[in-house]
Amino acid sequence: MIIRPDAAGAAETALDFVRRLYDRKPDPVLGLATGKTPLALYGKMRASGLDFSGTHFFNLDELVGLGPDAPNSFRRFLRENLLDGLGVHEERVRLLRGDAKDLEREAADYEAAIKEAGGIDLQILGLGRNGHIGFNEPGSSLGSRTRPKTLDRETLADYGPGTPRFSITMGIGTILEARVLLMIATGEAKAEAVRRIAEGPLTSETPGSALQLHPRAHLVVDEAAASRLARADYWRWVWENKWRVGQ
Ligand code: F6R
Repeated sequence: MIIRPDAAGAAETALDFVRRLYDRKPDPVLGLATGKTPLALYGKMRASGLDFSGTHFFNLDELVGLGPDAPNSFRRFLRENLLDGLGVHEERVRLLRGDAKDLEREAADYEAAIKEAGGIDLQILGLGRNGHIGFNEPGSSLGSRTRPKTLDRETLADYGPGTPRFSITMGIGTILEARVLLMIATGEAKAEAVRRIAEGPLTSETPGSALQLHPRAHLVVDEAAASRLARADYWRWVWENKWRVGQ
């Protein structure tokens, strides 16, 4: 848990994780999240000067029935807010197709493509107010794989009018197989969800609590999102002393 003063600081810290990945692996496999939260990180990635040409890209989820150019499509969002202008190789970009005729088949193909690429090195995650990750809504199996999933009413409201009710999403089991998880959560509206996933019990009622099972899960939050954490002082203390280990 890394607590930064504000959303810009959280994006800066998230970019440090991305930089460190490219320091050790120039051709990594990146898993992307859509939504408002990672936008600041994506802006910084575009401005970073990092070479993304060797990167394989996957994404967490997509809304069902939307083609790649539909205004609410996550593919469109990721192209406009990150991938366009990043110098990516198209054959290394595999985003979920919400307009696939056979969604079960699309899900199986997607899982196979991730395996074929060698697995995801760094999965970027956001967090829903109800604790969802990807579109794994409360009650999702902790072992779930990529599949179609019905959105919760609260999620539909958060995504605004006209949002399709169905998604196709990586499962929690799929997400947990990424080598490193990097979740960003900012703003007061996420504070309760952050508390539940970090300090509450591991339960499918709070899908993000599955991060407790992962050996390398990093949560980067701002002060507002950390405001309900009982152990916030401990995490600040860890951050302050991080570089002093062994001194
Ligand atoms: C989107 C996704 C979702 C979002 C979550 C938070 O690809 O996987 O879990 O991360 O709904 O969305 P924002 O960032 O808009 O608050």
